Amino acid sequence: MSEMTGTDTPYTALGFYHKISQLRSDTWNALNRDLGRLAKLSRDDSRARNLIKAVDVKLTRLEIIEDYHAFPSKEDFRHLWTLFNREEYALLEKVVKRLVRALISESYRRRHVDLSETDTDAEDLEAMDALAQLRRGHPASNSSAQPYFELLIVDAMSQQEEEVVREAFHNLRRPEDRFVYDVVTVRSFEDALIAILVNPNIQSCLIRYEFPYKSKYNLSALRNYLEGLSEVELESKSEAERSLLLSSMIREIRPEIDQFLVTSGDVEATASQDIRHFNRIFYRETDYIEQHHTILRAIDDRYRTPFFDALREYSRKPTGVFHAMPISRGKSVTRSHWAGHMIDFYGINIFLAETSATSGGLDSLLQPYGPIKKAQEYAARAFGARQSFFVTNGTSTANKIVVQALVKPRDIVLIDRDCHKSHHYGMVLAGAHVSYLDSYPLNDYSMYGGVPLREIKQTLLAYKRAGKLAKVKMLLLTNCTFDGVVYNVRRVMEECLAIKPDLVFLWDEAWFAFATFNPTYRPRTAMHAARSLSERYRSEAYREEYDDWKAEFEALDPDDDATWLDRRLLPDPDQVRVRTYATHSTHKTLTSLRQGSMIHVYDQDFRQKVEAPFHEAYMTHTSTSPNYQIVASLDVGRMQAEMEGFELVHAQVETALSLREQLYTNPLLKKYFQVLKNSDMVPLEYRQSGVETYYDPVSGWHKMEEAWAQDEFVVDPTRVTIAIGQTGIDGDAFKNEYLMNKFGIQINKTSRNTVLFMTNIGTTRGSIAYLLDVLIKLAKEFDRRWEDSSRPERKIIEHRVHSLTQDLPPLPDFSRFHAAFRPNVEDKTPEGDIREAYFLSYDDDNTEYLRFDNGELQRQMRSGRDVVSASFVIPYPPGFPVLVPGQVISEEILYFLQALDVKEIHGYRPELGLLVFHESVLHGEDTHA
Ligand SMILES: Cc1ncc(COP(=O)(O)O)c(C=O)c1O
Repeated sequence: MSEMTGTDTPYTALGFYHKISQLRSDTWNALNRDLGRLAKLSRDDSRARNLIKAVDVKLTRLEIIEDYHAFPSKEDFRHLWTLFNREEYALLEKVVKRLVRALISESYRRRHVDLSETDTDAEDLEAMDALAQLRRGHPASNSSAQPYFELLIVDAMSQQEEEVVREAFHNLRRPEDRFVYDVVTVRSFEDALIAILVNPNIQSCLIRYEFPYKSKYNLSALRNYLEGLSEVELESKSEAERSLLLSSMIREIRPEIDQFLVTSGDVEATASQDIRHFNRIFYRETDYIEQHHTILRAIDDRYRTPFFDALREYSRKPTGVFHAMPISRGKSVTRSHWAGHMIDFYGINIFLAETSATSGGLDSLLQPYGPIKKAQEYAARAFGARQSFFVTNGTSTANKIVVQALVKPRDIVLIDRDCHKSHHYGMVLAGAHVSYLDSYPLNDYSMYGGVPLREIKQTLLAYKRAGKLAKVKMLLLTNCTFDGVVYNVRRVMEECLAIKPDLVFLWDEAWFAFATFNPTYRPRTAMHAARSLSERYRSEAYREEYDDWKAEFEALDPDDDATWLDRRLLPDPDQVRVRTYATHSTHKTLTSLRQGSMIHVYDQDFRQKVEAPFHEAYMTHTSTSPNYQIVASLDVGRMQAEMEGFELVHAQVETALSLREQLYTNPLLKKYFQVLKNSDMVPLEYRQSGVETYYDPVSGWHKMEEAWAQDEFVVDPTRVTIAIGQTGIDGDAFKNEYLMNKFGIQINKTSRNTVLFMTNIGTTRGSIAYLLDVLIKLAKEFDRRWEDSSRPERKIIEHRVHSLTQDLPPLPDFSRFHAAFRPNVEDKTPEGDIREAYFLSYDDDNTEYLRFDNGELQRQMRSGRDVVSASFVIPYPPGFPVLVPGQVISEEILYFLQALDVKEIHGYRPELGLLVFHESVLHGEDTHA
């Protein structure tokens, strides 16, 4: 990997916070190489002088980074400088080599690595660990050892005091402890924040006594987090106030970290403050034993996996099965003459853990009382929800459960039309009256963005004016979309609540479970937004803000739409209810077996109004034989996310940024593959920050936070959409014939002229390197294809490129429901009874097929007939319904269907045409608005 730009000072280097762990390992490796070369040169060789300078620069940079890590320790680093200053380069090379091995193999997590000793046995161990890691492509497994973490201590201590404290904690280690930890010390408020940002090993934080505000480093990485906090103000805060502020900021950035306060004795003053973020307060700094046990216990609380543990325990018990499931305990396969290879493949444990029992230490998903209940409570903690529920049949089911629990027949639901199909079917089942919202189209790439807030407000306003706001129950949106477009969730909810204070929100976050574990992403998750809004509306400060806003608002004309649409709206704190639901396909972005999903709830009215119907809805859709392995994997996935989600998501972002950087800058790749930037996917009117791309070749990746803090829509950089029109090959063929068949690269989504590469927490730098290698090979192949083509062949290629980059059918908006399916046509509101239309089509007498490829359907339309779809019509890609039951077919939709060159269109039979309602079925006049 490349190093950072040549001009960077050590300070700005840390500004590249996004790639700090890559920077760390790359710099150590480069240092190792420099020292290897230096050792071979004589001192007066000019190359040696240059290398010495380069070593100095790298050591200086590394010292800053390592200041925030327990290994190598500050003492270790002093040892490196001593060797460097004494010009003992050969020895320095040896020590750095050991250090790099220990970092690569992560052996420092398992045993003490003493860098002052050059003991060959220890070196051999590290070398073996590093080799094993290289062979396997991942660090040596630590599953049987004690998991390792780091404790951050914040206090303005001298060097000697720091050593005493580290030693004191080291001396408390016992072989029987479940975990082992090392200590990182920092001396200021800013350094504490840097430490938790750059060092994912930190899991606990002990805040002690007086510490100044400023770090000795000037770290731009902090800019976004410290905005609004004045330095002078911070310097003048009391010890207690500063500790509390630090604790709330740590909580905001890494809520999973356990925090402890050591106070100097002003007990009463501290206790009267807001100390809710601290797990515990200690009154004596030297109470090391007590602190040690409390720290370990808090880690154990997160590390525990109640259901997975129960299942493992159960699988070890001897049981006689007089119940269903012959496969449980492997009984039906172990003695089989034909099916034994199933055991060879899966191993015996999965069968020992298969059971239909709900007692004996296990639990019932349908009515949890034991370990599943606990596991769900832990999930709620991890995802910031009030309640969480496991779902073993994917988010397709989770979505239907939430809708059924909240929506009664004839309730109005506002919903984005390009949402997942489970919602459209959910609307049919619930009998909702559906009001479709259109997302902004990205016609050049045949995909949609999100629904603009203005359009949502306008629709709500139409219901208000029609006197039907009481019937509007829910707003349902997809956050983030398949292509990575992310809403400003908090802003959307706040403004909608100003129009309808008890509106329920369902955010389909099927692709966004991982977002909870990164401080930039988290504020745009439904649960975080709901929690922060409900805290905001309870505060006195909000009440004042609202009163001022209301005075201004009431002076305006309420009948003028601009009054509502052109300004930011605030809800009335006396009326507002925060009622938010999110569904996660945990299996898509975190560790879980396929179909493992969760429903997260932050609804102030849940207990009072929803709990019983929610239970019924859950019963409706959940199997009475839920898969225990899925439940256990959700439990483990939650634990992993709480322990190392921050690190994994960070690494995911880093690898995606590396991929993007190469695609932005490599001339050969740029010729055929255009990676879509923020500005390609979010029109300027929705980008208040004006940020076009998070990347700048000179200053690197530093714009992401700015855009994510302000903009109406942002793009998740871990989902990399590449426009491939210049290759002359369409998305589908590129996916199957080139990526899959030739190179075994699997991707999920394509559009006519794009392919989507998703990174996830399992993506490694190695897999990114492979992908880049493949894309370079393909680019060279396309170059060759052009060179070897005859003139007519070149014409064909040019024609295909033109078709994929210029001839793009505009994405059609939702037309309208036919009057026959609009409950109150005279209201002029757009909702339709999709359920009625759906079931009407069950009777063959009500429908007929009309072809549009021979012009028959168009002729009927031109003769004045309203042609109304009797089914869902869903082309893949793009995968959203262009027609739903009851929808009037428009010219634009037909044009789009004709221009689409995809093979798969669900609900359309080319030999018959589209299924539509007979005219006689459609009573009533269509007085569309
Ligand atoms: C936005 C969205 N919601 C829901 C789902 C369904 O999720 P699951 O596959 O977990 O049933 C998907 C699947 O791709 C999706 O993209």
